[in-house]
Amino acid sequence: MKDVDAAAGAFSTAAEEEVVRLTGLSVSLGGAPVLSDVGLTLRRGRVTALLGPSGCGKTTLLRVVAGLLEPEAGIVHLRGRLVADPRRGVFVPPEARGLAMVFQDYALWPHMTVAANVGFPLEMQGVPARRRAARVDEALARVGLSKLAARRPGDLSGGQQQRVAIARAIVTEPELVLFDEPLSNLDRELREIMVEEIASHVADLGLSALYVTHDQTEAFSLADEVAVMRQGRIEQLAPPEDLLAAPASPHVAEFLRLGAVLPVVRGPDGWHLPGGAVIAPASAVDAASRVLLRARAVRVVPPDGGRVEGRVLRGLFRGDGYSATVELAGGHRVQIVTATRLAPGSRVGLDIPPEALHWF
Ligand SMILES: Nc1ncnc2c1ncn2[C@@H]1O[C@H](COP(=O)(O)OP(=O)(O)O)[C@@H](O)[C@H]1O
Ligand SMILES: [Mg+2]
Repeated sequence: MKDVDAAAGAFSTAAEEEVVRLTGLSVSLGGAPVLSDVGLTLRRGRVTALLGPSGCGKTTLLRVVAGLLEPEAGIVHLRGRLVADPRRGVFVPPEARGLAMVFQDYALWPHMTVAANVGFPLEMQGVPARRRAARVDEALARVGLSKLAARRPGDLSGGQQQRVAIARAIVTEPELVLFDEPLSNLDRELREIMVEEIASHVADLGLSALYVTHDQTEAFSLADEVAVMRQGRIEQLAPPEDLLAAPASPHVAEFLRLGAVLPVVRGPDGWHLPGGAVIAPASAVDAASRVLLRARAVRVVPPDGGRVEGRVLRGLFRGDGYSATVELAGGHRVQIVTATRLAPGSRVGLDIPPEALHWF
């Protein structure tokens, strides 16, 4: 009997641990597919970033999780509870899903004070006024806005308005917070500060979050796992370090700007780039059609006729170093990180160590 109890306990813990489970989600809008067979699991206390270019379906995916949009196919579980399944006619509305959202445009009520904005979700839950006030104070203190409680959103800066929206999202102590590009309207310096703030709220409050962004730095600094999206699909879901070490496709490598992805062919003397240069022995990999040349791992050396060579098109100062765009013999261009600014037109050799290569 003991074993059975232990197994049941383990099962329920695993289900509780999953704050979000999406299975086979598909959505079409205006007759065009926007999400195709999307699956994802978010565990308690974790942050998953949805990262991808504009139009790839990030907001649509959040709307399905929030209950603002019903999927055509697929299943949504929140904390082990089925909240959407069109085949069984299940659809739980947003207000019954126990989550909060933070939007790019803040979505505050302009006619209400900061305190009233933050207290509104509690009012909706029927929390009595006195208890509400204490929790609003606490949430405003957490985001550093206690002194602005009586102001209206229009009298605040963009960063302050977004802090109000964050306070409103955490005041109900939700299990799950959905962020939709919350920092995209802010300038870079403020974005960096607010990423740190959001990270500390997540850690202190043990929040679980889906965080939509098109900004790789934001995704990588906040998320335990990153879902790289493209054209309505998740191309890869992995911790940031793993994405960098092993991008699953040329698209992921290119979107993350890891370097140049070039076609390769195998000849008797090894793997060739277009134009003929050999970059690896024939035994380096069983099969491949393309290779990533990692910008950071390729070294510039004097040309000696025996290795990959190219012509510098541009040398750029990057703040923390230099980079150059080099055109190879086959006409393909690669970005490399360099120690000095390379002069346009100069010929260079490229030393490509095995760790600079990732095969597709
Ligand atoms: N209500 C709608 N009707 C028709 N197409 C839509 C609608 N909402 C979004 N789309 C389309 O769905 C795609 C994904 O949109 P969205 O989820 O907003 O992308 P993202 O948030 O990644 O920028 C886009 O091509 C967009 O034009
Ligand atoms: Mg969007």
